[in-house]
Amino acid sequence: MRNYDFLVIGSGLAGLVFALETAAKGKVAIITKKSLYDCNTDYAQGGIAAVLDIKDSFEEHVNDTYVAGCELGKKEIIRQIVKEAPARIQYLIDLGTKFTLENKDLDPRLENLSLTREGGHSQKRVAYSADSTGHEVMTALIAACRKNENIDIYENHLAIDLITQHHISQAQHFIPNITCWGAYILDITTNEIEIFRARKTMLATGGGAQAYSYNTNPDIATGDGYAMAHLAGARIVNMEFVQFHPTAFYDPEGNPFLISEAVRGEGAILKLKNGDTFMHKYHPLGCLAPRDIVSRAIDFELRKSGDKHLYLDATHIPAEKLKLHFPYIYKKCAQRGVDITQAPIPVVPAAHYFCGGIITTIDGETDIRNLYTAGEVACTGLHGANRLASNSLLEALVISWRAAHHHTINDEVEFPEILPWLETTEFNENEWVIISHNRKILNTIMQGYVGITRSRRLLKYANSRINNIYEEINNFYHHNPVRKEVIETRNIAIVASLIVRSALMRKESRGAHFVYDYPEKDDVKYLKDTII
Ligand code: FAD
Ligand code: SIN
Repeated sequence: MRNYDFLVIGSGLAGLVFALETAAKGKVAIITKKSLYDCNTDYAQGGIAAVLDIKDSFEEHVNDTYVAGCELGKKEIIRQIVKEAPARIQYLIDLGTKFTLENKDLDPRLENLSLTREGGHSQKRVAYSADSTGHEVMTALIAACRKNENIDIYENHLAIDLITQHHISQAQHFIPNITCWGAYILDITTNEIEIFRARKTMLATGGGAQAYSYNTNPDIATGDGYAMAHLAGARIVNMEFVQFHPTAFYDPEGNPFLISEAVRGEGAILKLKNGDTFMHKYHPLGCLAPRDIVSRAIDFELRKSGDKHLYLDATHIPAEKLKLHFPYIYKKCAQRGVDITQAPIPVVPAAHYFCGGIITTIDGETDIRNLYTAGEVACTGLHGANRLASNSLLEALVISWRAAHHHTINDEVEFPEILPWLETTEFNENEWVIISHNRKILNTIMQGYVGITRSRRLLKYANSRINNIYEEINNFYHHNPVRKEVIETRNIAIVASLIVRSALMRKESRGAHFVYDYPEKDDVKYLKDTII
């Protein structure tokens, strides 16, 4: 049993900012399932959106976000987040994040940052650090956390379940609202389970695109936070809006990596295999249309031609400029035999980001007392039906900072007695196949039946298959000692089910949810959130 004031589950941008900002108020534990660096944040390429140019305005950023989100975003939330963006970028600079400057001899100040453009933005407003923005941000945050004496870091520790009233000794009084007291944590190196009690818990577990076989995410992104919050009784919203990034490097072996939208922002063009351009037929912004539109256009074109991929052509951009802004992409493509200054890059869309998540206020509060969320796992209302590029890091930054400074955070709370984890001792090796096979099957179902374009028939088939698989996995989970693979596969099944059920509830097409049976949007019936 370990006691903390603040338990932070997840070491991406959302988790680390919350940890740093609460460390002045109490003892903090950061729990993370691999190393501190293993997270979506570390993979972020394009940058962080913020109004930093005199020609730009908050209202334009608000409008671009709202339009990209197909009018489902909440304007007041969008406005608040957009307004706080410059101050939070300054916060990252103060922590030591080195953003790319207009000119390398200038001081690292907001007005000197170089800005790039991405899909759906009417202005250049993305602050970046070459094509490794996330890694640069993580380096600064990790250094600050490691220096802080009030922060204990537990790598290779996996949160299994949030502790709520079900886990409190029955001798204690009934508590009327669902309340979180911390989490059961598996030490992955020893397979032992410990209770971490905390007055406030921040669930910052990131996204779940690993539910799909073709995705841009690191392997930690198995949607654990959505599953834990759902099982604890929090409302989950808008899970049907799975954003596919239009340009992942095409790899027939299934090992894609992202080619940043900023490459298109700097002038690269999408071309079919026969060399034809096509995006002008789909949207006035062409290759820089919002992401859902570009991915769907690619999906239509590839279905028409039968091709497995198309090309992103950057060869007309000066080679030195490409290598300077995109050193990581240049190197990764070269390792796969493509010199991006000389040849077009083979690309295909891949599952990238969940626009929905746990219902969360602007201050990171959830339905559950003392449980906060921020980052990709949370749904504040910023993104609506489709996220505007580079608004995710922004949201993680603003909401986690606000949650840390929320006025109720200093409440004095008496810890209740928590029931120990009931561990089964016998491990049934023979049935391990339930875990190893079903993970692949879930991935294949999601990729094939619940992809960029959907039909109600396929969604219904997916639903019944996922339910059966979930039963098998859950049964295994209850009769065997806990292992990381079991928890992750169970969580993927829960997330898959949340996505499919939400998709079935929305009988229209909007943003990242396109269903052939209802190809138009229906503002009369569906200009509202899908809540589970
Ligand atoms: P993450 O950074 O993913 O952190 C989640 C953390 O939770 C990890 O440390 C993980 O190990 C931990 N965790 C998960 N489950 C458990 C568990 N059960 N127990 C313990 N720990 C757990 N967005 C932008 O705005 N701009 C960009 O340029 C951009 N580029 C991107 C490029 C790529 C390739 C990808 C994949 C995403 C990109 N995004 C971008 C999206 C953005 O990076 C993420 O949405 C954002 O980083 C999420 O931050 P987070 O803190 O919520 O989660
Ligand atoms: C990218 O660099 O294209 C990713 C940006 C994002 O996901 O916001």
